Amino acid sequence: MKMKYILLIAAFITMIFSFGCNNNVNEKTSYLQKIEIENNISYDQILNTRGSYITSMCYTMTQDESLESVSNPCYSCHTKGIIPNYYNDSPLQESYNFPPEMMKNPFSNLFKDRSIRVSQISDEEIWTYVRQSNYIDEKGNILLADRLPKDWEGYIPDCYFNFDSEGFDRDINGNYTLWRAFRYYPFLGTFWPTNGSMDDVLIRLDQNFAMSEDGQLDIEVYKLNLAIVESVVKQKDINLSVTVDEVQYGVDLNQNGILDSSSIVVVATYDQMSYVGMAKKLLEEKKIHLALGLYPENTEFLHSVRYIDWDENLGRIVLSKRMKELRYAKKYEWNSYSAIARTALTETKEAIVNGTDEAVLATFRGDYEYGLNNEIGWIYQGFIEDKNGLLRPQTHEETINCMGCHSHLGSTTDSTFAFARKFEGIDPDANDYGWNHWTQKGLKGIKEPLISYFNYGEQYEYSFYLQNNHSGNEFRNNQEVQEKFFHSDGSVKQDMLEALHQDISLLLFPSKERALELNKGYKTLVEEQSFIYGRDANVLPMENVYTKIQAEQSTQIEQVIVR
Ligand code: HEC
Ligand code: HEC
Repeated sequence: MKMKYILLIAAFITMIFSFGCNNNVNEKTSYLQKIEIENNISYDQILNTRGSYITSMCYTMTQDESLESVSNPCYSCHTKGIIPNYYNDSPLQESYNFPPEMMKNPFSNLFKDRSIRVSQISDEEIWTYVRQSNYIDEKGNILLADRLPKDWEGYIPDCYFNFDSEGFDRDINGNYTLWRAFRYYPFLGTFWPTNGSMDDVLIRLDQNFAMSEDGQLDIEVYKLNLAIVESVVKQKDINLSVTVDEVQYGVDLNQNGILDSSSIVVVATYDQMSYVGMAKKLLEEKKIHLALGLYPENTEFLHSVRYIDWDENLGRIVLSKRMKELRYAKKYEWNSYSAIARTALTETKEAIVNGTDEAVLATFRGDYEYGLNNEIGWIYQGFIEDKNGLLRPQTHEETINCMGCHSHLGSTTDSTFAFARKFEGIDPDANDYGWNHWTQKGLKGIKEPLISYFNYGEQYEYSFYLQNNHSGNEFRNNQEVQEKFFHSDGSVKQDMLEALHQDISLLLFPSKERALELNKGYKTLVEEQSFIYGRDANVLPMENVYTKIQAEQSTQIEQVIVR
C-alpha cells in the first residue's frame, strides 16, 4: 500500500517536472525557430563551411604585379607565441597550406558587388540607423537580456556601458557590475576603424577578486587585483595609481623582500606573486591559480563591435550606439603550462600523422548557447544583428568563425588579444590612461607603439606593418589609406610615418565619407543575413584575393617576420 503511494507521488512529480521542462524547451526552441524563419538561417546546420575558423584574410594574394612587390599581412596573426603560448605558426606566412576542404575560398561575400544596394541607402538613413541603440533602451534596460528566453543558459548580457571616471561599469542604481573598460592599441589591419568597425573591450575578474578576505565588496582590492593580473598576463612590471600599504594586504608587491609600501607590481616567479584579499586566500588554498602569461579562472571579456558614427562637434568618428556584434569569452577552466603545451603538440602531431605536413580541419566542442570551447579552457559566444537590426545569438556555424583567431595563433596571449596591448598610463587625466572606455578618451594623439621583432629588432608597430604590407589592410582595398600613406609608385611617405609616430589616429580613423560607405556596405550584409559567407564590409568585389588555392602554392614571402 505504502509502495503504491510512493510510486504515485513519484509519477506525479515526474509529470510536473517534465511539464516544466517541456515548457522551457518550448520557449527556447520557439524563440530560436522564429529567428531561423525570419532570417533564413539555421542554428544547427552547417550551410557553407566547417572551416570558417580560418579567416578570409588568409586568402589574400601576397603578390601584386602593379606594385612589383610582395605584401605580408600574414605575420600579424601567424607568428611565434610567447610562452605559455606554445604555437609557432610563422611558417604559415610562406605557403597557402590549407586543409583540402578549404582550398576553395568559402567566403564568397568578398567577391560581391554591393554598389547598387548601397547607392539606395541615403546618408541620413544610415546615420539614423547606427545612432539608435539595439542593446540598451533609454531607461537603461538591457534589451537583449530582456529578449532572450528565460531558460537561456549561455551568457546573458549584464553590462550597462555606463562608466565612471575609472572605467568601472555601473548599473541603473550605481552598483558595480565589475566590468571594467580599458584602452588598448587596436590589433593590426582588420581591427582598425578605417577598415570597417569601431570596437571596445571590457574585462571582468571572478567576484572573489573584488572581495576583501572577510568577503566584503572592496573596490580597492579589485583595482589592485586587476593590476596584478595585468602584470602576470603581460609578464612585466605594472605601475599603480596609488601607493599601497603591503602590510594591509600581506603581499610583497614590489618584491623587495619586506612588507612596506609600494606603487608598483613587480613581476617575479609565479610562487613569489600573489593576488590580494579573498583571492589571496583562495590561491593559498589552491582553489584558484596564478601563472605568468595566464588569466585566473572565470576571467571574462566582452567585445562590442560597432558601426562608425560621426561627431560633427568633434569633427571625427566615434563609436556608434548600435552594435554590430556583442562578443563574449570566459575562462571556465584552468590549464597548466604542460596541459597547454600538450595541446599545441598534439595538434602539430595530428597534422604530421595525417600525411606529411598536410593541414587538417579542426573541430570545436560546444554549441551556440554555451559557446564553443577552445582547447585551453576558454569558451566563446556572440550576438549579431538580425535582419531588423536587433541582436540575436550567433548560430553554430557563425560561432565557429570565432575559434581560429582565439585558439591557434602565435599572436594571442592566453587566447586573447587586447589586454596584452592595454595602455599603461595611471593618471586618469592623462591621454594614455589605461582604464577608460573609448567614449571617455579616444585614440587621438596616442603615440605609436614600439614592438620588438626577433629578426627585425625594435620597430614602430603600425609603420612596420604599412612597410611590409604595402597597404592599410589585408585585402589592399583601402584606397584612403593608400593615398594618404603611399606614393603612387607604392613607396611609403616618410613624412606621414613621422606624423604617425605621434598620433595613430592619422592612420586608424577613416574620413566621414569612408565611414558612410563602410556602414552602408555592412548594412547590406545585415539585410542578407549572409555572415557565414564573410563579414567584411566591402562594397566592391575584392581584387587581391584568391577564389581558389593551388596545391603547394607559395606566398613568395622570402623572410618571415617573427615577434
Ligand atoms: C587576422 C589574422 C590572420 C591573418 C592576417 C592571416 N591569417 Fe591565416 N589563419 C588565421 C586563423 C585564425 C587561422 C585558423 C587557425 C590556424 O590554423 O592557425 C588561419 C589559418 C591559416 C592557414 C591554414 C593552416 C592550417 O593548418 O589549417 C593558412 C595556410 C594560412 N592561415 C595562411 C595565411 C596567409 C598566407 C596569410 C597572409 C596572406 C594569412 N594566413 C593571414 C588568421 C590569420
Ligand atoms: C580575425 C580574427 C578574429 C575573429 C574571427 C574573432 N576575433 Fe575576437 N578578437 C580579435 C582581436 C584582434 C581582438 C582585439 C580587438 C582589437 O584589437 O580591436 C579580439 C577581441 C575579442 C574579445 C576581447 C578579449 C580579447 O581577446 O582581446 C572577445 C571576448 C572576443 N574577441 C570574442 C570573439 C568572438 C565571440 C568571436 C566570434 C563571434 C570573435 N572574437 C572572432 C580577433 C578575432
